[in-house]
Amino acid sequence: MIGFMGSGKSTLGPRLAARLGVHFLDLDVEIERRAACTIAELVAAEGEAALRRQELEALRALVDAAPPGCVIATGGGIVESPEARTLLRALGRIVWLEAEPEASVSRLPGPARAARPLLDADGAWRQRWALRQPHYRALADAVVNTYPDAIEASLERLVALARAERA
Ligand code: S3P
Repeated sequence: MIGFMGSGKSTLGPRLAARLGVHFLDLDVEIERRAACTIAELVAAEGEAALRRQELEALRALVDAAPPGCVIATGGGIVESPEARTLLRALGRIVWLEAEPEASVSRLPGPARAARPLLDADGAWRQRWALRQPHYRALADAVVNTYPDAIEASLERLVALARAERA
């Protein structure tokens, strides 16, 4: 799963995996495990470049270790790296959770915003969105709209897509 912050990857990913009876992996969790601190702490201490390095290393490790058929949620910024884009293609089918960014970012509750240091309060995230959106589009094997549609409707579309893939 790829998509901007707030597009629903962490909400939908575990539910999709449960429905399919497969493992769910969240790359942000892998980064935090490897760095032994939260993403917010990592960025505060070492900057965004350190986050990107850890993200790429976690993704490289997943290419070798991900259980077959699992669902993987990636961080919104992963598509900025050309190597990450190549690795994502090698990992499997890619679904872009497309959401209207302004609304999906604003629906993130306070703690979720605090956990995302790159979700700048001054609105600079719009430049990130503009940079990433063409990559999300180009990488996607499938696109599921997650906003303003209800989460249940998005989940059903994801399940149907995955089942069609397996058939
Ligand atoms: C980031 C998105 C976050 C997390 C980190 C950086 C980004 O993941 O990887 O805070 O650059 O867009 P989510 O997309 O799951 O919020």
